[in-house]
Order: sequence, then structure tokens, then C-alpha cells
Amino acid sequence: MFLEDCKVLENYQVGDNYYLMKIESKKASQESKAGQFFMLKVKNEMRILRRPISLHYVDKDKNILEFYYEVKGSGTKEFRDLKENDTLNIQGPLGTGFTTDVREKTCVVIGGGMGIAPTKLLIDNLKKENKVIFIAGGRDKGAVEILKNIDLENVEVHITTDDGSVGEKGNVVSALEKVLENKKVDMVQTCGPHKMMEAVAETAGKKDVFCEISLEERMACGIKACVGCSIKTLDGMKKVCHDGPVFDSKIIVDVDPAEKVGCSCSK
Ligand SMILES: Cc1cc2nc3c(=O)[nH]c(=O)nc-3n(C[C@H](O)[C@H](O)[C@H](O)COP(=O)(O)OP(=O)(O)OC[C@H]3O[C@@H](n4cnc5c(N)ncnc54)[C@H](O)[C@@H]3O)c2cc1C
Ligand code: FES
Repeated sequence: MFLEDCKVLENYQVGDNYYLMKIESKKASQESKAGQFFMLKVKNEMRILRRPISLHYVDKDKNILEFYYEVKGSGTKEFRDLKENDTLNIQGPLGTGFTTDVREKTCVVIGGGMGIAPTKLLIDNLKKENKVIFIAGGRDKGAVEILKNIDLENVEVHITTDDGSVGEKGNVVSALEKVLENKKVDMVQTCGPHKMMEAVAETAGKKDVFCEISLEERMACGIKACVGCSIKTLDGMKKVCHDGPVFDSKIIVDVDPAEKVGCSCSK
């Protein structure tokens, strides 16, 4: 894990309220894995806590990290306002990543909405030695615009949108059901809204397919120093920032955990 001041290379809008930021990182880029995240801070001493953002992609040869984010509140507005050559302080990589050390398997990667963020690097890692089926879904055209930034060569792609503006009208779960009816799948890996991941895990579970889900929990420290992200699992209490955010879906009691311990402040 590194604390690093990084130069912003690019930061531009991709769809309605979605942005793609590329930064130069000489240290963290060399250690980063698909599914990990970073705590990002802008140069504003008034802001105490950082904001957790997933690693979208890493180019280890060029020392570039990519983040795909949605502007929601004050923290992400500050990210949006960063310009080329500004400085962004990063802490990471943090957490566990997705399983990528597999060969000759059929892997289904599912990203819903902002959950598409970690799928670019995951697909890139998996497709070298496996068959990858990518199911991406979002509300509308703007929510899946980011797919233009993902190399989908040699990947079977299914796109769904709620309004049918791109791909099939519907959701990623019905697309997964169709895939599982027709193919023998070894692994499903997903990131997205809680309800979506719950349904994906249940659908994969019915076919006894190994499934990993990436949980998004409010985080204060990001480095297992508080209890803000603790969740109850069948393997005992876990911290999403350290033991996750990627978990085997079989140990998750509640994808949207009701059982919380301690502080949930993130300001
Ligand atoms: C492991 C992890 C990876 C994430 N990856 C991405 C990503 O790749 N791209 C992206 O756009 N977002 C990602 N998020 C969510 C992102 O951290 C929040 O949207 C961001 O912190 C909001 O900060 P803000 O100051 O803009 O908004 P705030 O004003 O703080 O809050 C606005 C909204 O965001 C929600 N929120 C605030 N803090 C968090 C938090 N720590 N976790 C989850 N929701 C929060 C609040 O419930 C509220 O609805 C990730 C979260 C986690 C935990
Ligand atoms: S966010 Fe503090 S322990 Fe996970």
C-alpha cells in the first residue's frame, strides 16, 4: 500500500454524470490488481476523509491508473474539477481483488451501473487464458457509454439497459439466466447495485457456479483501522476494506448488510 502524489493526465466526462480520470503513478501502478480500490484525496485540507474508488484499469508499462466515477456529492465533485497536471493524492491499492489466476475456464463478468468500474481490468486479466462473457447493464445509454473505453476483443458481450436505448431492454440477471441455460460456466464475478448482486449470486448459486461479488460499503478509513465497514458473514465478522471488497458470495449473509458495527461517518 502506497501514499502517493500523482499527476492528473486526463479527467473527462463519459456519459451524463460519469467521468474517467487517468493519473500517473509510479509505485501503486506496479502493485495493483483487478477488484482493488484506492482512497482518493484532493488537495483540500478541509476534507478529512478520503473517498474509495475502484481501480478501473492499470497500464503497468506506462504507470497509468484509471478511475471511472460518478459525481454524487462534495468529494466526487472535487475529483470532477481536477484538471490536467493537478495533483491527486492516492492511498492504495487496498483490499482483495477478484480471482484471476485461472486458465481455460468460462468466466462471466457482470457489471451494473457504476459496477462496470472494476470490470475493465478484470476482463483484461481473464481473457488472456480464459473464455470471457461480459454482461453489462445500466439505466440508459449514458450509463454504458464507458464500454467504449474497454477492450472487448475476443469477449462475448451482452448489454442491457432499463430503457432499451442500448442493447436489450431488461437487466443483467435475465441475461445471466440465458447464458447459464446455454453454456457451462465455471465462475461468475460481479459488481453493481446490492439488489442486482443479490440476484446474480442467487442465480449462479442455483446452478452451483462459484460466484464472487464486490461489496460497496461506506468507508471511513479504508485501512481496517476503524469498524465502519464491518459486516457479518458465515465466516465471522469481516471488514469490507480489508477482507473484501471482493467476497465469495456463499459466505455473505446480506449483500446490503443490516448488521453494522460502529461509526458510518464518511465526511
Ligand atoms: C470499495 C468501494 C469502491 C468504490 N468504487 C467506486 C467507483 O469506482 N466509482 C464510483 O463512482 N464510486 C465508487 N464507490 C462509491 C464512492 O466511494 C462514493 O460514491 C463516494 O464516496 C461519494 O462521495 P461524495 O463525497 O461525492 O458523496 P457524499 O456527499 O459523501 O455522498 C453522496 C452519496 O454517496 C454515498 N456514499 C458516500 N460515501 C460512500 C462510500 N464511502 N461508499 C459508498 N457510498 C458512499 C452516500 O450514501 C450518498 O448517497 C466505491 C465505494 C467503495 C466502498
Ligand atoms: S473503513 Fe475503517 S475498517 Fe474498513
